[in-house]
Amino acid sequence: MPEGNAARPEPRRVILDCDPGIDDALAILLALRSPEIRVEAITAVAGNVPLERTAENALKLTELAGCPDLPVAAGASHPLERKLELADFVHGPDGLGGLELPAPSRSLDPRPAWEVLAQAALGNPEPLTVVAVGPLTNIALALEAAPDFAWQVEELIVMGGSECGGNATPAAEYNVYADPEAAQKVFASGAQITLLTLEATRQATLRREHLERLRGGGGPVSRAAAHLAAYYLDFAASHGADAAALHDPLAVGLAIDRSFATETVSANVQVETRGEITYGATVINRRLSARPRIDAGEFIRRGDPEPVAPNARLPVKIDGERFTAFLIDRLLD
Ligand code: RIB
Ligand code: CA
Repeated sequence: MPEGNAARPEPRRVILDCDPGIDDALAILLALRSPEIRVEAITAVAGNVPLERTAENALKLTELAGCPDLPVAAGASHPLERKLELADFVHGPDGLGGLELPAPSRSLDPRPAWEVLAQAALGNPEPLTVVAVGPLTNIALALEAAPDFAWQVEELIVMGGSECGGNATPAAEYNVYADPEAAQKVFASGAQITLLTLEATRQATLRREHLERLRGGGGPVSRAAAHLAAYYLDFAASHGADAAALHDPLAVGLAIDRSFATETVSANVQVETRGEITYGATVINRRLSARPRIDAGEFIRRGDPEPVAPNARLPVKIDGERFTAFLIDRLLD
């Protein structure tokens, strides 16, 4: 598992899998304006809004960021098993809060997203980081297409899940809830996962003072970021909050500079795929032990604690103020 980029002579190879989505859009702009990483492709998945929209939004945003040649590939138009549940009430019907951007000048990459992911991981010996900030359907399909994907990817940074309550339901965070079966496959894959849960991302928030800084920028990226931030803050305010969590930008932030996470723990993460009330919940076992259940006839007895293997590293303390200031600096033009 790589620690920060300080020791890296070369920019880190990155593919960003996303469902833009307002915070995804800020994550895309951050990624494309950060020399510490080299984004090789952006892959879109259905989630906040349908795939046609997330894919087109990704094309438009790469051109806004001055990267008109960056491959953008469309992936899954629906989850592996369940019905797609949108989050357009948060991000707006277009996924970008009504932000008007020029029509893309080029088409999508002809390959499906999971093929782009698998080829990038297997076709190049240089370490690859995948940052996944939407439902994990494309990642699960890449694992299916190329079983070696799990250990060919140096690090899979996932924004998803929660330790105590969700945002999509009282039990589940949206990215995992949108495709629990895909998420469970990813956590069971053996990939080197860094998992940013809601408890982590809510430590990095956008506030009105940050919006004013963006409004002070004169360039097209500042203006677009200000529009996105204003819409996102208005949604937060409509629910009584004066700040909005920078879920997806923080995932990119960790690929740029690991030091935004000041404390990280190992855990075993499982996803509830059969519950009704808890469908899509992440069960995060930090103790890394469990007591086996022994059927003793009339009763179930519990054996002695046995170790449970960790399958993810969770940044649990975030230097949120420093990250948000860093993000705004990177977005200003
Ligand atoms: O729960 C937060 C996640 O759900 C973010 O990725 C946001 O874009 C939404 O997709
Ligand atoms: Ca997202």
